[in-house]
Amino acid sequence: MSTSNIVTKVSDTKEEAVKAVAAEIAALIRARAAEGKEAVLGLATGSTPVVLYKELIRLHKEEGLSFKNVTSFNLDEYYGLPGTHDQSYRYFMNTELFDHVDIDKAKTHVPDGTVPADKVAEMCEKYDADIKAAGGIDIQILGIGRTGHIGFNEPPCGPDTRTHQVTLDEITIKDNARLFFHDKIEEVPTSAVTMGVGTILESKKIVLLAWGDNKADIIYRSVCEAPNENCPASWLQNHPNCVFVLDKAAAAKL
Ligand code: GLP
Repeated sequence: MSTSNIVTKVSDTKEEAVKAVAAEIAALIRARAAEGKEAVLGLATGSTPVVLYKELIRLHKEEGLSFKNVTSFNLDEYYGLPGTHDQSYRYFMNTELFDHVDIDKAKTHVPDGTVPADKVAEMCEKYDADIKAAGGIDIQILGIGRTGHIGFNEPPCGPDTRTHQVTLDEITIKDNARLFFHDKIEEVPTSAVTMGVGTILESKKIVLLAWGDNKADIIYRSVCEAPNENCPASWLQNHPNCVFVLDKAAAAKL
């Protein structure tokens, strides 16, 4: 019998699936605004969350949702890419979400991929400390890589890692070359800075999104295998408030 705490929610389409997630984020933001407080969001990149960001932008434009009281922390960044590079995750967040809402960019955090090698550890420690100082992450959004990575925590990876520098798995480099680097594998950085699994698990709520049949195997492993270091997303089973929001294809093997 599985001891998994993970709740799975399956919808016909990803557009339908993200509506409830966006509504929950909007409710959190509005409730905090009413108390004069910040909502702290953990945000993700990749193709998966784009549809969620579209819905949040719609809520801002059509339903008056303000992001003025939002502080955000992104999961990860390629090491070596400045935020002006069109494949950096800072650039992605600006173009897919931040530029379209009224968020104060000074309160949006993405790990800095440009710090010199001897300053990376210090930057990572500060990233974790900044999350704590903000009161912790209220809702963390995650995608998942086919290796089972969350953020850029490639297997093997234990449950206690903090924000740190990682070497990317070959499958991840290939997937990201295809999706984001016009198939030019030599242009994909081989290293990144990512929140650790331990950092992610400290979030008050975690929502993992996955669409399409190429995620079905890794979703099955994440939910049904005993938590293990060869599938970093399986550590999410230890979290008391984690939901996997899936389309039918990603949920096919459950
Ligand atoms: C990158 C990101 C992950 C993301 C993954 C999946 O590797 N670092 O956070 O989950 O891509 O990408 P996609 O959503 O495009 O499948």
